[in-house]
Amino acid sequence: MTANTTDSTPVTAGEQAELRRALGPFHLTALGIGAIIGAGIFVITGHAAQEYAGPGIMISFIIAGVGCAFAGLCYAEFASMIPVAGSAYTYTYATLGRFMAWVIGWDLILEYLAAGGAVSSGWSSYFVAMMKNIGVTIPAEFAHAPLDIGAGGAVVATGAILNVPAVVLIAFVTTLLVIGVRQSATFNGIMVLIKLSIVLLVIIFGLPLIKPENLQPFIPPHTEGWHYGWWGVLRASGVIFFAYIGFDAVSVAAHEAKNPQRDMPIGILGSLVICTVLYILMSLTVTGLAHYSTLGVDNPVSFAVAQAGPQIAWLEPYVNVAAVVGLGTVVLVLLYGQSRIFYAMASDNLLPQMFAAVHPTFRTPWRGTLVTGVFAGLLGGVLPLSILGELVSIGTLAAFVLVSVGIIVLRSTKPNAPRPFRTPFVPLVPILSVLVCGAMMVWLPADTWIRLAVWFFIGLVIYAVYGSRRTATPKWTLPD
Ligand code: ALA
Repeated sequence: MTANTTDSTPVTAGEQAELRRALGPFHLTALGIGAIIGAGIFVITGHAAQEYAGPGIMISFIIAGVGCAFAGLCYAEFASMIPVAGSAYTYTYATLGRFMAWVIGWDLILEYLAAGGAVSSGWSSYFVAMMKNIGVTIPAEFAHAPLDIGAGGAVVATGAILNVPAVVLIAFVTTLLVIGVRQSATFNGIMVLIKLSIVLLVIIFGLPLIKPENLQPFIPPHTEGWHYGWWGVLRASGVIFFAYIGFDAVSVAAHEAKNPQRDMPIGILGSLVICTVLYILMSLTVTGLAHYSTLGVDNPVSFAVAQAGPQIAWLEPYVNVAAVVGLGTVVLVLLYGQSRIFYAMASDNLLPQMFAAVHPTFRTPWRGTLVTGVFAGLLGGVLPLSILGELVSIGTLAAFVLVSVGIIVLRSTKPNAPRPFRTPFVPLVPILSVLVCGAMMVWLPADTWIRLAVWFFIGLVIYAVYGSRRTATPKWTLPD
């Protein structure tokens, strides 16, 4: 990652400083885990279990994990072939051209920016619970989003004023990212350790206390629409897919990896496998400790621990603290990824040059980082996690589908390009990735599709008036 050390070579204004290569496999895997485990498992799991899947949420995690594994195998091949910043955006530019690159870049902005906002809102819930543990009550109107979407898709006021903790968190993280990422990466590593420990503690101490009656029936009988039964399990897989988002943040950092060819696949697949196993066990524990019908609360994991009885009551405050730490890390990685996507897109003249400007002292893309912080803060401050989470899920699934198609295209258009990591069983694995990720998109609500369509429409208008009128020499070309 970009270092902020005293030996930084200052660059003159307007010059685009190269980002430094300082990340190894441990950093990259930590970056992945730091981005992955967050509001998805700590908040959305409870809501999805309560509304859609019951204890069957565990199966939803398996389905989503399988989709991610297929997509991750495709990502890893791209990331090892094209080890520069920009994630799927860069891969698409090199394979499918400028227009498709814009489409996916715009899609990734949705993923990272809206996810940063979404996780800050989940963070706020645990922050409120943590403060309550020490006797401080934060008034609800200052800890919830003022807007929600009601029946029929209408925007409704919730009575809250602003999610203040969410906005303050985004401001803090943005400052860290502007002043230098090395400190932030070290900070991230420590936070990841804390987060992993608490997830393991909940599993180790919670699993033996599971009440078997909470897990019966494992898949509650279908009621209507997408509620319960197998339909509920399928919809929940699209909803909790959010919990897996982040492994692609590893590839966003390729530009700053010491040995991208070897380490990107390790970072992507390693973090994905670790998180999948933890999610399956964690969702089993949470729905086993508390009945799924009670899990639609702001802080379902600490709530479930509190329901388990006096044996693990000591754990509850620690869960709140670790969630605050852990979700904060997720916001850090997501906003970091977003600023680098802006950087890559601006370097290709798809966005104004200010997004590519590197700070002369800190050597970070500070202007893009500030813009990222402002928009993420707005989203996290005024919109609820549920709306943002589903939108992020569908946007990311769309990106995964495009990346998987890209792998198949590339194998025929650039058969001889060096592939330090090869996706196994092409075209089977990319096709399965398209099918599973595409199905999870289909299982998401129609409203979410409409919001995605609006987002793409805005993106196409911006491309028509800006990006399509400019050109750039491709930064990365592959031999045929
Ligand atoms: N996967 C990340 C989370 O669950 C975005 O918070």
